[in-house]
Order: sequence, then C-alpha cells, then structure tokens
Amino acid sequence: MYYLNKRIENLERIFDQNERKDYLRLDLNENPGGLPQEFIDEVLKDVTPQFVAQYPETLHFTEVLANFLGTDIGHLCLVNGSAEGIRYIIQAFTSENGRIVGVVPSYFMFQVYSEMYGRNFVKVPYNEDLTMDVNNIIREMTDDTQLLILLNPNNPMGNVYTDEEFELIIQRAKEKQITVLVDEAYHYFYPKTFIKYALNDEHVFVTRTFSKLFSMAGCRLGYVAGWPEGVKMVQKLCTPHNTNAFAMKFAEEIITHPNILQSLIDNFNEGRKYLIETLDANGYQHKGEAGNFIFIKVKTDAPTIVARMKEEKKILIKSYPNVGEFGTCLRVSIGEKKYMEQFCQALFELDK
Ligand SMILES: Cc1ncc(COP(=O)(O)O)c(C=O)c1O
Repeated sequence: MYYLNKRIENLERIFDQNERKDYLRLDLNENPGGLPQEFIDEVLKDVTPQFVAQYPETLHFTEVLANFLGTDIGHLCLVNGSAEGIRYIIQAFTSENGRIVGVVPSYFMFQVYSEMYGRNFVKVPYNEDLTMDVNNIIREMTDDTQLLILLNPNNPMGNVYTDEEFELIIQRAKEKQITVLVDEAYHYFYPKTFIKYALNDEHVFVTRTFSKLFSMAGCRLGYVAGWPEGVKMVQKLCTPHNTNAFAMKFAEEIITHPNILQSLIDNFNEGRKYLIETLDANGYQHKGEAGNFIFIKVKTDAPTIVARMKEEKKILIKSYPNVGEFGTCLRVSIGEKKYMEQFCQALFELDK
C-alpha cells in the first residue's frame, strides 16, 4: 500500500513569495537595496568554472567565521539559511510529542516545524501593550519542557531581553534541563547578543543568518552556534554539502571587510532614523524597531493599505492581525533612506 505521512499531508505551508522582483520589497525583512553593485561585480570576478563545478568546501569559511566571532570551528555549524538550523535543533533536541515553549507571535517556522515533527508547541503570548513578561515564559518552563525558543530581538514584535531577564531564563533552563534556542536573525540591527552563552555554556544555541543585515537572502546561508556536542548533533542532520559556495564567498568578503559591514549598518540606521522621525512627525504610532522592521498603526484599514500599496505603488508590505492595542497593523521592513522616503510618500497618500 502506498504510504502518505498524514502529518505532512495536513501541514499548512505558505508558498506565495514569488514574482516579487518588480516591487519595492518591504514584506520579508530583506535589505531592499542589497549590497553595492561594485562589490557584487568584484566578488564575482574570482568565480572560475572549477569554483562552480566543485562541491563547496566549508572548512576555510568556517575558520574565517570562527575567527570573526572569536571562537573555534567546533562551536559552529553552517546551514542553508538559519531556518534550516532551527529545524535540525527541533529534530535533534525534542521528541515525538515533546514540549516546546515559544513566544507568539513570532517567526512562524517554529510552529511549522513543531507540527511537521509532531511536537507540542506551547505558546506564551505577549501582553496587550506588546510587552513580554519573562515570568510568563519561566512559568511555562516545566519539568517536561525540552526546548525553549526565544528571539533576540523578536520578529515581528521587536522586543528584547535585559541581561537580568535572560539570566533568570537560563537559570531556570539549567534547573529544568531545557535546551534553549535563541534566534538572532536580526543581530546587528540590535547589537546586544547572547551568543556568549552558546559559545561558553552548554545546552544553549544561537542561530544567525546572512539574509538580513548581510543582505544575502538569495544565497541562503546561516549558522548555528553552540557547545561542541550539540553542534555535532546538528551537523549529523545536515544534507551533504548543504552550504552554497557562492554564499560562503560573499559572506567571507563581507566579514573580512569591516568597511562594508559598517556601511550596511550606517545606511540602515539612516533609513530607520528617517522613517521613525517622519512617522512621528505625521502622528503615526509605531513599535518594534529593534530589528529591521516596524509595526505601524494606520489611520484607515491596514489590509486595504497593503493591497493598494501593491497595486498602485508597487510596494510590498504585510498586515498583522491582533497586535495588542494596535489591532491589525502594518509590518514594514526598514531599509535605506531612499526606500523609506518612497514608502512614507505612498503611505501618506493612501492612508486618508
Ligand atoms: C526570526 C527569524 N528567524 C529566522 C529566519 C530565517 O532566515 P534564513 O533566511 O536564515 O533562513 C527569519 C526570516 O525571516 C526570521 O525572521
């Protein structure tokens, strides 16, 4: 008899993210402008037929990355986008029906993977004023919890944790023997990091990506940082040669040229400052700008604004329902100032 895995058959996935190339893309937290064209041309100059023909070699880049992070390669596993690393951590560190605790709303793949593997995802909701009470997280860290997933900062809520709050969570995780995954996809937009726990402690992972500040979402590259035994578990799940050679080449060029990284950060900060000041000046409430995205409470109807932005202005943004006191609001990716100008102009025209 043919077999179909019921769990996969019933799994809801969204595959609607194609045909976006003619739009200003402010919907998926990418860098809308991307890396400078001269930089791309320069890096591609070294690409030879052999480079394309051979399987990607990870050792060199992992060493470069380890050096950049001040660690050694035993603490790192390269993955094909951090979404892949998250999946492997769920697979390796939780069991069938195992209890996973995570805040909601957040990056939806935590719940998708939990469902895919038959895990029990327990949701810790935000307060009405969009703050997160760490005591609510700690309360859910029960004896039978296997994995706690936190985001620093969270997407889409943009909240962060103080050192004291994080320390409390880590203490509880140790007491209850719970593995902790901290998703730092939006590191650099918000500089505070908890990676030292992943590099110096055990049973703590940090996942990071080259898709966001590094502006390489099209290349697919991320990494899992953790203690060596944990990292080995993740490595065992990787498909052979999961890391793209082009991705490693671009990433190496960025991390070994601090001026490129700095100019990405500067351009982003200029765009964020412009956006926030312009929203404030025009009486818009907003929240969650610790990452490269922001919630905006519009004056009319958010889903209508999203549809009209797409049709009339060729700008892609998202609307989110039930965002505490904001109700249904916009989530917009933040990018260089010129894109924020384009967005603000369109918003003020449509939202009246
Ligand atoms: C919080 C969070 N984690 C992980 C990812 C996945 O990133 P990647 O491109 O590295 O798979 C995203 C993507 O939007 C995200 O928002």
